[in-house]
Amino acid sequence: MRITVLGAAGATGRRVVEQLLAHGHTVHGTVRTAAQADGLRRKDVETAIVDLAAPTPSFVDAFRESEAVVNTAATRSMNKREAELIDHHGIVAAVDAAVTAGVKRWVQLSMWGTADPSRLPGYLRDTARAKLAADDRLGHSGLNWTVVRPPWLTDNAPTGLVTVGDEVEEGSLSRDDLAAVLVTALDNPATFHRAFEVTGGGRPISDALDSLTDR
Ligand SMILES: NC(=O)c1ccc[n+]([C@@H]2O[C@H](COP(=O)([O-])OP(=O)(O)OC[C@H]3O[C@@H](n4cnc5c(N)ncnc54)[C@H](OP(=O)(O)O)[C@@H]3O)[C@@H](O)[C@H]2O)c1
Repeated sequence: MRITVLGAAGATGRRVVEQLLAHGHTVHGTVRTAAQADGLRRKDVETAIVDLAAPTPSFVDAFRESEAVVNTAATRSMNKREAELIDHHGIVAAVDAAVTAGVKRWVQLSMWGTADPSRLPGYLRDTARAKLAADDRLGHSGLNWTVVRPPWLTDNAPTGLVTVGDEVEEGSLSRDDLAAVLVTALDNPATFHRAFEVTGGGRPISDALDSLTDR
């Protein structure tokens, strides 16, 4: 499958790229700088430079011929304006561009607690509201969508074990395990048209995602 990864040079994005390549997929990665593009091209990843803060009609080119998208891009800023600009409006512009390009599937990396920001500390609530607005737009886009909401991310070694559900205890999750959840979700029907929280420990990733049909 040909898959566009938004934020392909990010800490989670580059792990998603590695795992997709290992599964034999063709990857198109969006990055922000020429140096990041060079690094990915050395791994046979096609690239496009995309700034979610400044949507242009050429956004569509990042998605042409891709069947699916994994979005790992987001601002690192906790500033409300930045969150609105990038995590909300930037992602909505990208979703619209993907629809125009004929993409069918979108796996969205969101954030634990986003469905109910009162569970989050105050400094994360503006980010959560911006992400929730984008997640909602994705849900009404006509795409086959999945929204994945992890808690604190670490660079710890992967365990292959996660707990998923509408709401899970906060905890933490390694980025390697998160990347595996995003990649495994791509073709797991139990995750289609579904938002869920995920944290470390519990069950093997495939089993955990299969359990999302048990409601
Ligand atoms: N960190 C946590 O503990 C945590 C917890 C829960 C959820 N999350 C979510 O997980 C996701 C990924 O986390 P991470 O640790 O992998 O983050 P990261 O390394 O900061 O990756 C974010 C990616 O988004 C890109 N990006 C930022 N602004 C952009 C813009 N205006 N246009 C296009 N791309 C842009 C970055 O590009 P550059 O590399 O060029 O900046 C980077 O590739 C984020 O959505 C975050 O909100 C994180």
